[in-house]
Amino acid sequence: MKKLIVGNWKMNTTRTEAVQLVTALRDQLIKGADAFDMAVCPPFVWLGEVAQICTGSALKAGAQDCGMADKGAFTGDVSATMVKEVGASYVIVGHSERRAQHNETNAIVKAKAEAAIKNGLIPIICVGETESERQQGAHESVVGQQLAESLPGSGAYVVAYEPVWAIGTGKTPTIQDIKSMHSFIRQQLDPTEKVAILYGGSVKPDNAAAFIAIDHVGGFLIGGASLKADEFWAIAQSC
Ligand code: PGA
Repeated sequence: MKKLIVGNWKMNTTRTEAVQLVTALRDQLIKGADAFDMAVCPPFVWLGEVAQICTGSALKAGAQDCGMADKGAFTGDVSATMVKEVGASYVIVGHSERRAQHNETNAIVKAKAEAAIKNGLIPIICVGETESERQQGAHESVVGQQLAESLPGSGAYVVAYEPVWAIGTGKTPTIQDIKSMHSFIRQQLDPTEKVAILYGGSVKPDNAAAFIAIDHVGGFLIGGASLKADEFWAIAQSC
């Protein structure tokens, strides 16, 4: 299975920066790297334009969230139907920032993942423990419960393991910790399904090669380093 490299731009980029970044990545990909799959997840307001720039190339666009319903009285929400219509392929659901800042429960994350699948999108379902949960040795039980309660009943999806304490901090788990968590996650999944398990949290060009070599690491979900085309590309090169 090809590795999947996903950029999560979060609430960053001006319109000009978004266009420049996606154009640079698309043009690099056109030069013929097909050893990995790549997607970028810009803010909603740039998503249609970014998806359009990706059209006809191997680069895919994704959203950072979607609503649970297809339409209706949900002020501020954007549905998976809309995300699909503007040409996106992926949607991140259950990112720890949404779980923490918007009180998203596992049940909400599951409903969003199912809405994504119903609309022909691939949800990237994020799980991960906080620093105190890891210190207490509860990381596997926390992630196990997130998986049991957030994964969709059927359909294709991607899992992203992102320890909350590693996001945007420059701190990362050890190789051994990533290895044991990814094999734990693999054991929780249906063995007949080819689900990619991404790692996310302070992935940089200088640690990507070591992380991608770990068993069951199927690619990366990248925040900060996805905002610079050369850094993001350098990480992809290690895959
Ligand atoms: P980071 O973010 O790469 O900046 O740590 C990862 C993420 O939040 O997906």
